[in-house]
Amino acid sequence: MTTIATAPNAATLRQVWGHFATGVAVITAHNGAEPLGFTCQSVVSVSLDPPYLSFCPAKTSTSWPQLRKVGAICVNILAHQQGDLCRQFAVSGADKFADVEWGRADNGAPAIAGALAHIEAVVEFEHDAGDHTIVLARITDLSADENGRPLLFYKGRFGEFAG
Ligand SMILES: Cc1cc2nc3c(=O)[nH]c(=O)nc-3n(C[C@H](O)[C@H](O)[C@H](O)COP(=O)(O)O)c2cc1C
Repeated sequence: MTTIATAPNAATLRQVWGHFATGVAVITAHNGAEPLGFTCQSVVSVSLDPPYLSFCPAKTSTSWPQLRKVGAICVNILAHQQGDLCRQFAVSGADKFADVEWGRADNGAPAIAGALAHIEAVVEFEHDAGDHTIVLARITDLSADENGRPLLFYKGRFGEFAG
């Protein structure tokens, strides 16, 4: 095994990982009293059979402990015009759903209007991972807007797919 002499610092990790362009999602749930959600970039497809997705909430997230209690979540994959909404859902303690149009997905979680795709899932596993948690959730239903375009995140900025 190769030993890394000096652990990379957070600034270097952020700077280099910024080169990995991704889509962005808002992960939501409804606890019966209020809608909950947070912006999340670390969403990936994990397994087709059974259908699993994964994402990594930070341990500092105040939304995740509430979302995990509900268990039924919706991964709202954002469309190119939803950059402001993406930032709104990244501010801890803010009224994240202010001026946001949403309805209930079949599993009760908020489905944000205009999103490129909605993926409903139920949280099955969590694994401790440093300052984050790796979550594995089983997909129960999903749909996408074939005519929409994605919101992309690269080097700390939003962009659009040109193709
Ligand atoms: C583009 C973008 C991507 C983000 N991706 C993640 C992520 O993968 N995991 C995470 O925990 N937070 C991520 N965040 C930050 C959270 O959205 C933010 O810390 C959270 O909304 C704080 O609110 P809370 O205390 O209600 O959880 C991201 C923020 C932005 C703007």
